[in-house]
Amino acid sequence: MNDFIAKARAILKTNDRGGYTVPTDRLYPFQWNWDSAFVAMGFAGYDVLRAYRELERLVEGQWADGMIPHIVFHAPSDTYFPGPAVWRTSHSVPTSGITQPPVFGMALKRVHDAAVASGLENAVQRSMPLFEAALAWHRWWYAARDPEGTGLVALLHPWESGSDNSPAWDLAMQRVPTTTETVIVRKDTGHVDASMRPRDEDYKRFIHLVDTYAACGWDPARQWEVAPFKIAEVQTTAILLKSGEELVVLARALGRTAEAEELQAMNSRSRAALLSQWRPKLRRFVSRDLVSGEDIEAPTQAGFVPLLALDLDRDILTAASAEMTLWSDGMQVAFPSTPKTYSGFEAKRYWRGPSWAIINWLLIDGLNRNGLTEMAAELRRSTIGAIEKIGFAEYFDPITGEGCGGLDFSWTAAAYMELSKAAP
Ligand code: SER
Repeated sequence: MNDFIAKARAILKTNDRGGYTVPTDRLYPFQWNWDSAFVAMGFAGYDVLRAYRELERLVEGQWADGMIPHIVFHAPSDTYFPGPAVWRTSHSVPTSGITQPPVFGMALKRVHDAAVASGLENAVQRSMPLFEAALAWHRWWYAARDPEGTGLVALLHPWESGSDNSPAWDLAMQRVPTTTETVIVRKDTGHVDASMRPRDEDYKRFIHLVDTYAACGWDPARQWEVAPFKIAEVQTTAILLKSGEELVVLARALGRTAEAEELQAMNSRSRAALLSQWRPKLRRFVSRDLVSGEDIEAPTQAGFVPLLALDLDRDILTAASAEMTLWSDGMQVAFPSTPKTYSGFEAKRYWRGPSWAIINWLLIDGLNRNGLTEMAAELRRSTIGAIEKIGFAEYFDPITGEGCGGLDFSWTAAAYMELSKAAP
């Protein structure tokens, strides 16, 4: 074990709060949905029982309708805003009212495989309830967030994308009022420099949306009707499809043939829908703003995440890889969440430019899947190099390579463990 692997494991240990892992101390003091899925994949490599626990504890927050919320507030903390009193949800373990990218299916399949490989006797019994949870969540995505059956799932809040202040939301967010019923008391800017975080105006709109959906009693159909922010999103749909593919294989392994077919049908719809979001002129995939009916053309990393879940033809791959190369050109640490040539680019401000190890993980998988192994290897080396030089930062300034946001970050530790394994 090299020193960095030891350090990565130590971070997960420090961030353990009793079977679940906080993303980092103070800045994010609860269990976050997609963070935990990445962390579970990290644990799967050396402690499969702990990996199961991570997913089980997340599922404690699952709602009766199948949604797995983006935050589970297992224990109180006053270092984060907005807490349970702002969300006003009714689940017995307090949770937020929105969701996050469904990496869970990918993680569960990984944990199950590791359990079987390690000879764990009750692997099937341990995986089965988690499979049920994943299946219910995938059904929820298609029922609640794609009621018209297009195959692309929609987000009703930027926080659901995980890419909170991405330039992709700029136009749509301008239509969201800045008025709030809730008093905004930001805590994040007390932990990290304000220049690395979303702006106050973004927070007013984030909280306006929370107030709006709380007033709907968090009922998905009512939210869908009134949502001033509604984006059919390619990064989330690609992650859902990739997880869906993994769940089909898992369903078969668990003897759940009917559910395997059901998942396959959902996946087919998303596969076709994602493909139709390719824009040859832009050389990337685009999301759609369902309020304006228009493509979202602002350039972000999301445009390439569909490689994760699609087997693409040569023309698309040639174009997408040329575009990715252009964005990466001259960067200390690829892959930028927004290219530096874009007017909205800000090298240190959260999702408006910085490079993220977990996004690189998804992109690397997507490049490998599509035979772009050289590019994948280069991105892998660049990500590992940044972490070894700077540490396990939340994200990196792509131009200087500086570590930004929270430090000793759980998902960066998990990504390091993943990416430092032998290349495929
Ligand atoms: N990422 C958001 C935050 O920074 C919420 O999920 O608080």
